[in-house]
Amino acid sequence: MTNPTDAKAIEEVLAQRFGETLTVDPSLQGLETLRRMASRRVCRRYLDKPVAPELLRLLLACALSSPSKSDLQQGDVVIVRDAAKRRAIMDLIPSMPWMKDAPVFLVFCGDAQRMPRISALRGKPYPNDHLDAFFNSTVDGAIVMTSFITAAEAVGLGCCPISVVRDNCEVLRDVLALPKRVVPIAGLCVGWPATEGRLSARLAIDARVHVDAYDAGRLEAQLDEYDRRRNAREPGLKQRDPARWGEAPFYGWSEDKARQYAHPQRTDFGAFVRAQDFKLD
Ligand SMILES: Cc1cc2nc3c(=O)[nH]c(=O)nc-3n(C[C@H](O)[C@H](O)[C@H](O)COP(=O)(O)O)c2cc1C
Repeated sequence: MTNPTDAKAIEEVLAQRFGETLTVDPSLQGLETLRRMASRRVCRRYLDKPVAPELLRLLLACALSSPSKSDLQQGDVVIVRDAAKRRAIMDLIPSMPWMKDAPVFLVFCGDAQRMPRISALRGKPYPNDHLDAFFNSTVDGAIVMTSFITAAEAVGLGCCPISVVRDNCEVLRDVLALPKRVVPIAGLCVGWPATEGRLSARLAIDARVHVDAYDAGRLEAQLDEYDRRRNAREPGLKQRDPARWGEAPFYGWSEDKARQYAHPQRTDFGAFVRAQDFKLD
């Protein structure tokens, strides 16, 4: 069913997001889906209202219907229902209270343990124990998570991925009994949104979409344009670590990300992945 209101809404929201006016044909099918995708935003505040288990199962089934490398189906999900287990994971991350408030908490994983077991069960060799197994399974898991978010948002739920759970990978592994060759990708808070949240501006489309050849030659100008456009929409970004870097007279996204990544993050993750028996060569 077509809806001219959706077409206009998409044009408006994408102009806010990218600073570019796109023309949306109001006779296109699926505009409601595009409107939801274009206007999506992370949700960190939830109503005190449960998500019915049968709805969660439906959304998971939709997510698991996503494409999968070689049909290997290597993206798995753990529903963290047990209160003590949730506490064990969340107590380590007091800076993100929305993890506690979310009615549902999931952990998306790359699962590379099933395939070698299938090979053994069927009496076949498994000469593919190398980096590709890690890459394929984590990509599959990330696709499942993205599909889950799209499905959840389609029914009005809000989500917040949580990669910070990987700051404590060993705890996560032990609490959720993750076997060797299973690696957590991110947690996901899910619930009914208590607020609309804010639309986050993105780098220009042309900074991330390349035609025929990758072009990173205009990065500086693209960053400058983005920083100014984003600051105009969302002024007052709190400056990170002024004691180390001082107060910048103009503080944009790129300065913020450069400051964020001036701190080492998860430098032990490679060791964890290797300890999970992934071969990274
Ligand atoms: C893989 C992944 C990990 C994330 N990890 C966290 C996290 O640990 N904590 C958090 O509050 N948000 C997390 N986020 C949410 C991002 O901060 C958010 O998507 C980003 O700021 C852009 O905002 P938007 O989704 O509203 O466009 C994560 C998002 C992704 C895709």
